[in-house]
Amino acid sequence: MARVIFFSGDAVRRAVSPQRAYDGVHEAFIAYARGEWTMPPKVYVPAYPVGDFRAMPALGAGHALLKWVTSFPGNPAKGLPTVTGLVLLSDATDGTLLAALDAGAVTALRTGAAAVLAAETLASSSASVAGVIGAGVNGEAAANTFLARGRRVLLHDRDEERMRAVAGRIGAEAASADEALAADLVVTVTPGREILFGDGSIRPGQHVSLMGADGPGKQEIAVGELARVRVFCDDWEQASHNGDLVHAVGAGVLRRENVTELGAVLAGDAKGRRNDDESTVFDSTGLAIQDLAVALAAYERADGLDLPRLDL
Ligand SMILES: NC(=O)c1ccc[n+]([C@@H]2O[C@H](COP(=O)([O-])OP(=O)(O)OC[C@H]3O[C@@H](n4cnc5c(N)ncnc54)[C@H](O)[C@@H]3O)[C@@H](O)[C@H]2O)c1
Repeated sequence: MARVIFFSGDAVRRAVSPQRAYDGVHEAFIAYARGEWTMPPKVYVPAYPVGDFRAMPALGAGHALLKWVTSFPGNPAKGLPTVTGLVLLSDATDGTLLAALDAGAVTALRTGAAAVLAAETLASSSASVAGVIGAGVNGEAAANTFLARGRRVLLHDRDEERMRAVAGRIGAEAASADEALAADLVVTVTPGREILFGDGSIRPGQHVSLMGADGPGKQEIAVGELARVRVFCDDWEQASHNGDLVHAVGAGVLRRENVTELGAVLAGDAKGRRNDDESTVFDSTGLAIQDLAVALAAYERADGLDLPRLDL
């Protein structure tokens, strides 16, 4: 009989700090690049125009994971989260189900971690201030991760009330769109319905982690701008089919050889930034290996947390 540990969102946040998520996601990108962890591409189950469901499996470190998660961008207007669902963690030696975790909390921790990991890996040597566009659940997580790394954060959201509330709660500075977009390291976490970076807008030496456009029809950067800058992604297979990259690939201006995976840079198999004047962009669609890293980090801490356990 399997005894399954349940992690609410709050339990996930108590178990895993932004810094712990950052470290775990860093290791996961390297393990995946080396072929030690595996991950079939995520499956999208469209429920358009309102949103979509995603099934995301991964295998690594003796465990298997499945995340069943949503993106319903209109939900906040109804008082519901955009991203919600469940993460299942199993023992990969005998298949035993070990834990079920709130997918929103796992997603936020690993998304903030990947955004900041890419930004710091690809930053110019003089980069200092971070800008975050979108102060929703996942934008807040990115801002929190930058703060945990000791950076000053300029946070912008078109919803001014939300921007001020989140900035005040976490210790970021509320900022105009222009101020946040001009930071040395920028993370965008909007619903991806508007272009934030038009042609010629990313300045020399600047880095942008594009996190919001993680599904069909979404875009945070113009195709011409992607063709002009140095491009990195989390996973070519996923990003070229569902991220910002899909538009540039469809237009024929980007091909596989023009795009470097972050894991290859972290594993030392590919070059990151080549000089301080290069403009760099990281396109993320979100990987199940990131979720596995955070789920494992939470599971490690389960004994100290007095969590509910259920026999199946
Ligand atoms: N790449 C990944 O790994 C990953 C992970 C999680 C979520 N996402 C995606 O990120 C997006 C945001 O997710 P969330 O859960 O934070 O959503 P959310 O609804 O909680 O927050 C989105 C925020 O963006 C703000 N916003 C919208 N348009 C804006 C604009 N043009 N300028 C400034 N602010 C703007 C909204 O006011 C809102 O506060 C979604 O598209 C989601 O699918 C990607």
